[in-house]
Amino acid sequence: MKLFLYVGAVMLMCDAINGLFLPELGRGRQRISTRGLSWYQRGRRVERPTHRVIDPNEDCFLMTSDEGEIFFKSPSDEPVVCGIYMIADPDQRIQVTFNYLDVPCENGGLVAWVDGWELNGQVWPADAWDDDRVVESCDRRPPHKLVARQNAALIQYRVPARGKGFAITVRHLKNPRPCNVMMFGSEGIFTLRNHGATGNCSLITIAPASVRILDLNVGQAVKTHSLLDLETGTISQCKKRGLRDYVDIGGAGGLDHTKMEVYDSVCGLDSKEARRPLLIACEDTVVRLVSSGRFHNSVTLAFNPLAAEDIEHADLICGMDAMNEVPDI
Ligand SMILES: *[C@@H]1O[C@H](CO)[C@@H](O)[C@H](O)[C@H]1NC(C)=O
Repeated sequence: MKLFLYVGAVMLMCDAINGLFLPELGRGRQRISTRGLSWYQRGRRVERPTHRVIDPNEDCFLMTSDEGEIFFKSPSDEPVVCGIYMIADPDQRIQVTFNYLDVPCENGGLVAWVDGWELNGQVWPADAWDDDRVVESCDRRPPHKLVARQNAALIQYRVPARGKGFAITVRHLKNPRPCNVMMFGSEGIFTLRNHGATGNCSLITIAPASVRILDLNVGQAVKTHSLLDLETGTISQCKKRGLRDYVDIGGAGGLDHTKMEVYDSVCGLDSKEARRPLLIACEDTVVRLVSSGRFHNSVTLAFNPLAAEDIEHADLICGMDAMNEVPDI
């Protein structure tokens, strides 16, 4: 029942996921006509097999959380852009090896490894993006293993040559220091940490969700281990108060979490699970840990699917920010 409600909510909220695009192709957006379907309808999740042949009619938008080999052989000369969206556990990284690649460069034939995800022209993680995240090839396979910096990566391909294609092996490696994390579905518990470093780490789930803070230690634990850690409780609106370490909780209308709408930015030391969950009715739910580098920050969060009946009284409904002002405490 829960799952049913969740899928319903996704269908309600996701009206904007309607295509893929390869930015480097120089021909503007290359869309697949997937408009009108929900993420989960379109993203068929691969079950178990460690050896899979892509069915061009079913799997143009393929989402997989499995390891194993994946083959693609083009059924036609049509320049269709498709994608293999790979996701692993939060504390893992995706590794892809091209076992062979036989894609003529003529007519725009191309296979691109993307260290991250791209949907509707938005990339994730946008604030950590650089040119190294995209490796394109045709004719010759990338000789090295390609390792993502996080638990989600993407192969985009366009093979306008019948019978041509490629084969990859997907592996999931351990990631001892996950920073940007994508959650599969919207159920789970995860701890975001900065490991004492400066910068932003974030967690995104491609669905509306309820978010509950189970444990908070942000802007408190000085690196030199003071024994005197006072429970401040959860402090609201920390960014407005001028603090440099805080956790933004909110949502976004696409994968680009730098454009997120923030419901609240919290900080403090709070080990009690006293807060009620925040209901975030956005296409994507985002939590961002912002760290000055002066503290060892961590925040443990529980995510749950947002029930359809919770949407109307959600704390944040994206695209309506004027109506969602948080009163100052
Ligand atoms: C981290 O997030 C804050 C928004 O709260 C933003 O102002 C800042 O530019 C981000 N830092 C980086 C390195 O992206």
